[in-house]
Amino acid sequence: GERGGERGEIYAKGASSRQLIKAAILDNDFLGHLEPEQVSDVVDFMKPAVFPQGSTIISEGSHGSCVYVLEDGKVEVTKEGEKLCTLGKGKVFGELAVLYNCTRTATVTALTPVSLWAIERPCFQAVVMKASQQRQALY
Ligand code: CMP
Repeated sequence: GERGGERGEIYAKGASSRQLIKAAILDNDFLGHLEPEQVSDVVDFMKPAVFPQGSTIISEGSHGSCVYVLEDGKVEVTKEGEKLCTLGKGKVFGELAVLYNCTRTATVTALTPVSLWAIERPCFQAVVMKASQQRQALY
């Protein structure tokens, strides 16, 4: 569609998933400042992904490129082998490397089978840049 193109295609999703993703973004320390239109674009472009129990979703030090929202299941966050926390349904992770163009700051492992929503870095950055360009064009 017109809003697809190089940013990827919109992935249709139900109202409850849209609400879960939106609430997860607004609850996140680093994404909570996004404007309503940016949040709604991120929700549009997120695609589903699943990981089996025990799998590594993110490896500390790697060059990953997705931001994730947990739809179902639990993950553990570890850094240099030390447990930092457990995250459940409705939490964002993987935002730091994408926002700050750094390597992954921690390892994220699936404690249960996990269903996620994922958006890739180029798509995420295009959404954020598009809105700031539109704002600048007003002046
Ligand atoms: P990122 O660095 O992209 O990949 C690893 C993710 O783990 C990171 O983004 C955060 O989402 C998450 N993370 C890193 N440190 C912590 C922490 N101290 N508490 C909770 N989550 C963290």
